[in-house]
Amino acid sequence: MPSTSAVTDPKLMDGGNYIREGRDSSRSTCLIFSPKNEDEVGALGKYLQLFVDHKINLLHIESRSSLRKANSYEFMVECAPGGNLGAVIEAVKARSIYFSVISRNHKNNMETVPWFPRRIRDLDKFANQILTYGAELDSDHPGFTDPVYRARRKHFADIAYYYKHGQPIPRVEYTPEEIATWGVIYRKLTELYPKYACREHNHVFPLLVENCGCREDNIPQLEDVSNFLKDSTGFTVRPVAGLLSSRDFLAGLAFRVFHSTQYVRHSSKPWYTPEPDVCHEVLGHVPMLADPVFAQFSQVIGLASLGAPDEYIEKLATCYWFTLEYGICRQQGELKVYGAGLLSSFGELEYALSGKPELRPFDPVETALQKYPITEYQPVYFVAEDFEDGKEKMLKYAQTIPKKFGVRYDPYTQSINVIDSKLQIEDLVTNVNQEMEILMDALKKLKN
Ligand SMILES: [Fe+2]
Repeated sequence: MPSTSAVTDPKLMDGGNYIREGRDSSRSTCLIFSPKNEDEVGALGKYLQLFVDHKINLLHIESRSSLRKANSYEFMVECAPGGNLGAVIEAVKARSIYFSVISRNHKNNMETVPWFPRRIRDLDKFANQILTYGAELDSDHPGFTDPVYRARRKHFADIAYYYKHGQPIPRVEYTPEEIATWGVIYRKLTELYPKYACREHNHVFPLLVENCGCREDNIPQLEDVSNFLKDSTGFTVRPVAGLLSSRDFLAGLAFRVFHSTQYVRHSSKPWYTPEPDVCHEVLGHVPMLADPVFAQFSQVIGLASLGAPDEYIEKLATCYWFTLEYGICRQQGELKVYGAGLLSSFGELEYALSGKPELRPFDPVETALQKYPITEYQPVYFVAEDFEDGKEKMLKYAQTIPKKFGVRYDPYTQSINVIDSKLQIEDLVTNVNQEMEILMDALKKLKN
């Protein structure tokens, strides 16, 4: 187990979250600011004194060159709860040409942007925010009375809990019972895919067999799946110890990171699982995330969620539900399935296209308001014309979300650019122009 003596097991806190004792980053507040006088030597030192004066403990300090003003610096300071935060915010704000606050505690403060990860390694912080943990199963869960299964679930939860960005995902030796459960599901679903699954899923599936050993008698390792996705679309997989909030889960998509379970559902009910398991992730999600247009579509939902107000997170999570989980699309006049919830459930896969449920065209404005059951077949599904069309509609919808800034993922630094200055936009336009020149040059060469 990658645990160290300095790290304690997570504890269940009031409100249902598991929090590791010690550093409490879940309630921290991040201040991001650029000093008014950038030439002033020791600018950061003077700011830090303000935090000392107001009895604020700092968890993390970071400085970088500002993207908003030439020759300027930007500081990011993560404050622990406690001390006079309001006073320090006012003091820092008064001394800054640029200032913003992001915090998990954003509820009662309109000026505070809801916390979101800015660098890919910030996703490590989600482990402290999970809503359920491994062996904690509800009384109606098929594995509730099975101590061996509960211990196994705890084992998988621990792997994910201690996982850090950049590490290989630990390989797991699946038991014969787990492989048998996977095999039952694999056999039945792969019979149905040619008829029901969309073109993209059927195109990628043989590659998964070839590259990741995805076979009836072998459950692919998440590390192999993640490497395969990285080569295909830049998506990677992160193991997750339990249920994440919608805000955190969607934020992962902005970085092209998919949070995935690694355990297998209980063997007593191979056709039913109350929560996602590795069969659902690998057979349903992974082939779709290997498609470039679908990967973009998924990332658009993720980017839209960053810093969005709570009510929009719910709407985006609903759009996610009716697309990545339960989406249907039209291909050459025929209805096909692309949602992972359907692609990993043989009963609902047939039911969705049986003509019985109601089908409506995918439109984020409408779809975002649709209520849905979690443990029954969906009474309504939404049909996308194609992923390109779905992506365009999501982009338009994202523009209606009230935010004071734009966001863009920078794949070179694996970080989110918060775009809220003219200089950043000018720099980005220059980059786009350069890309256009490369394309025009290539086009000319094609013509010759
Ligand atoms: Fe899923």
